[in-house]
Amino acid sequence: MKHFPYKKTRMAVENIDLTDLSKSVGTPFYCYSLNSLEESFHKIDESCKSTNLLICYSIKANSNQSIIKTFSNLGCGADVVSLGELKRAIKENIPGNKIVFSGVGKNTNEINYALENDILLFNVESLDELQHLSSLAKNHGKVAPVAIRINPDISAGENEKISTGKSQDKFGISWKDAIEVYNIASSLEGIEIKGIDIHIGSQINELEPFSRSFDCISEIIKELKSKDFDIDIIDIGGGIGVDYKEKGKNLEIEKYFDLVSKKLGDLAKTIIVEPGRFLTAHSAVLVTEIIYIKKSSSRNFVIVDAAMNDFIRPSFYGAYHRIVPLVDNEQDEEGEEYDVVGPVCETGDFFVKDLHLKNPQKGDLLAILSVGAYGSVLSSNYNSRPTIPEVLVKDNQWEIIRKRIEVDEIIKRDIIPDWL
Ligand code: LLP
Repeated sequence: MKHFPYKKTRMAVENIDLTDLSKSVGTPFYCYSLNSLEESFHKIDESCKSTNLLICYSIKANSNQSIIKTFSNLGCGADVVSLGELKRAIKENIPGNKIVFSGVGKNTNEINYALENDILLFNVESLDELQHLSSLAKNHGKVAPVAIRINPDISAGENEKISTGKSQDKFGISWKDAIEVYNIASSLEGIEIKGIDIHIGSQINELEPFSRSFDCISEIIKELKSKDFDIDIIDIGGGIGVDYKEKGKNLEIEKYFDLVSKKLGDLAKTIIVEPGRFLTAHSAVLVTEIIYIKKSSSRNFVIVDAAMNDFIRPSFYGAYHRIVPLVDNEQDEEGEEYDVVGPVCETGDFFVKDLHLKNPQKGDLLAILSVGAYGSVLSSNYNSRPTIPEVLVKDNQWEIIRKRIEVDEIIKRDIIPDWL
């Protein structure tokens, strides 16, 4: 979290004091560092020596328009999974010819809109989808560029919920059926076979599952080429893990791309990578204020003003995120262990267990680290809590990039029928 340094005892974001910023914005809020976002993009760009790489930012990780614009400005394409994400990408001037559309359930509206915008690639996940795409493309008088997403039956990542490449998962078409499906695709009107796609999961910190999945598609590509199929594009998906514990145990990005070029580099004109987490995770903190301290015979609790509805990863995936005080009282040597919990009425509403804190007080501010990916996008208004604001910082300037959605606004969305 290089862009969130301590200046003496106070945490900053770039050149702005986070405690001062909290007074202006009000807690809880997400705070992003623009330099961090740009730096993670350059890390990928530089570690991939191959010139035929297209980075398609996976918008699901963080769909704030300012975040999308940041990557659009850097020349990124986009990986989208819904009409909403597609519209967000286009709004920030990501050209259709840099957009790939993934997902098992693309509906008619979504496909039509993608066809109208001449996207680069439909990553097709079933035979049914392929046939539907073919008929819609014919109606439009268009030809849909297609890659078949392969399910290699490989387990990957640190969590069952985000592993996508096993045979029992809903994603992709079994590697065993791949050739047959390509044969069918080639016989369908309105379909142009462009490539092959794979995505085996998220938060993957070992090379081995990637290596096996690249071997799997490389075999398929060779067989397809021997049958005169044109495979111009290999989409290798996302999944690059990050080091939430900051202990240096994450995937080395250079080694990942060495593997990509060694196993796939010569097999296609373009390689697409769809990182979400890698580009955004370390770019943000969630600032929250301690409301109460509660000590019982068995546990100590720090109750903060953010909750699982604002940031669900610890509750939902058991994910670990570091939490640090915004002001570090170095002189207080002694400390105790506390569970950091939110106000939502669920036992699962916690951010971390057994956090060592030195003499925490009501009103102190804490930062939950590395929340830039799958943070704000997964938030809800559970317990009728407001949507919290998001702030973007660049050097010594800041701006609110999503305003707080107040409770009154949320209540107003509900409709009471006349007859009630
Ligand atoms: N491409 C496809 C087709 C995907 O399904 C995903 C993520 C990505 C790319 C981006 O993967 P990344 O580079 O971010 O690992 N909410 C979960 C993560 C779900 C990931 C879903 N798919 C979490 O908070 O860990």
